[in-house]
Amino acid sequence: MRIRLLIISVSLLASACYYDKEAILYPETNCVPPASPSYQADVVPVMNQFCVSCHSGNFASAGVKLDSYTEVMKYVNNGQLVGTITWASGYSPMPKNGNKLSSCNISKIQAWIAAGSPNN
Ligand code: HEC
Repeated sequence: MRIRLLIISVSLLASACYYDKEAILYPETNCVPPASPSYQADVVPVMNQFCVSCHSGNFASAGVKLDSYTEVMKYVNNGQLVGTITWASGYSPMPKNGNKLSSCNISKIQAWIAAGSPNN
């Protein structure tokens, strides 16, 4: 089951990132921020791969749940989503005890927020 989830999230990530001349701007992963950012396509796969293991269910770390649009929006609106994933001072760096998200994944989430966080 874990393996299947991993394969699904890896293939989602791979299909969301494609090679383009703009990859020069994002050499780390050859990933281009989406032109029309989408919650389902750009945010959910990142949350599922890096955050939901600790942030869902009754025992969610710090009471923070990141497994639904409504819950994620709380941390968009209070600035903690971007603060934690960019490791900004004053926020706990997330994923906890893990590596920082790739600049590709961070830029996808920032592009989605800049587009008004559409629920699509
Ligand atoms: C291994 C478990 C774990 C993972 C994975 C994890 N978190 Fe956390 N998260 C925590 C814990 C524990 C806290 C409580 C604060 C602390 O201990 O630093 C927390 C707190 C938070 C908070 C509350 C703000 C704050 O500064 O305390 C936010 C927002 C957050 N996490 C977002 C995320 C995001 C986004 C991801 C994925 C990129 C993520 N977390 C991945 C364990 C985790």
